Amino acid sequence: MNSRHNKSYFYLVLTTILSFYACNIFASAAETTPEIFIFDDRESQGNACARVVIEKIKENQIQGKRTVLGFATGSTPIFFYNAFIRMVKEDSIDLSTTITFNLDEYVGLPPNHSESYAYFMEEHLFCELAYPHYPLGFRREHIFLPQGMAKRYADLSTDEQQALKIQFGCTHVEDSLTSEEENWILQFRADQYESLIDTLGPIDIQILGIGTNGHIGFGEPGSSFTGTTMVVNLTENTRRDNARFFDNNIDFVPYQAITMGIGTILKAKSIILMANGANKAAIIAQTLSSPISEQLPATALRQHSSVSFFLDQYSAENLSLCEQ
Ligand code: GLP
Repeated sequence: MNSRHNKSYFYLVLTTILSFYACNIFASAAETTPEIFIFDDRESQGNACARVVIEKIKENQIQGKRTVLGFATGSTPIFFYNAFIRMVKEDSIDLSTTITFNLDEYVGLPPNHSESYAYFMEEHLFCELAYPHYPLGFRREHIFLPQGMAKRYADLSTDEQQALKIQFGCTHVEDSLTSEEENWILQFRADQYESLIDTLGPIDIQILGIGTNGHIGFGEPGSSFTGTTMVVNLTENTRRDNARFFDNNIDFVPYQAITMGIGTILKAKSIILMANGANKAAIIAQTLSSPISEQLPATALRQHSSVSFFLDQYSAENLSLCEQ
């Protein structure tokens, strides 16, 4: 390469680097305003949310496209699931090609544990709307949740056993996994979950709740806005909040979870954040008005072009600017 070529090569590299940073600066600065809908009660909030999801499924069906949905757990979306079940049955909606991804799961709880999110989804949605109970229902092979149980070798799928063997270079003799093996397999699963979302997605509508510390999924304060599905440590605040599901005993609440990252959530085409109850009023107001910051994960939603907040009147009580 002569010196003239050297120079133009240098400028090419320089402009590429500069435009990369410019794009990122603009991307991180671009702020959008979520649409806000306020409802008298949880029932009308759940009905409205279910109607939006049903309309999207119908719209996609007319266009010959399948729908990909992102589901959440917690007490907030329960009325949504009730309404969704009712409307699907009333309108005989065909869900046989619809794909679902759940946001998160506790580490260490088997799917048959009453507080696992797999159990929650079964109880509140899939027991009613999965095939064959509902003949037009979700096919089991289209339902995806992160898997948080990896205590024993027997908890792993054949592919996972193979991957573990390749990684650790030996055949497993003990049934219980070491903590190093467990951590590795959980992150392996998290990476695979992300790839699956990329392959089958994008998610058309992601439903979210919100934690009192502003977490979405289990993306706790400090989570990167570009993070993908990962294993996370739960904060004391979240474990305390969720102790109500575990006999009010924080000691029973798992310390870790596998969750979509904030970056994963932001890849969805549209997002509906639901909140209800006065205990969410402060965090909802902060989410909408505080500076966008990784310390308040839900503020990441203000960098997405299609976000709606479905709030009951109590969670909206600290907002002065919102109208239904
Ligand atoms: C958990 C879940 C979140 C959920 C939050 C709020 O921490 N990981 O996805 O949004 O709880 O739960 P609730 O709706 O019960 O207030």
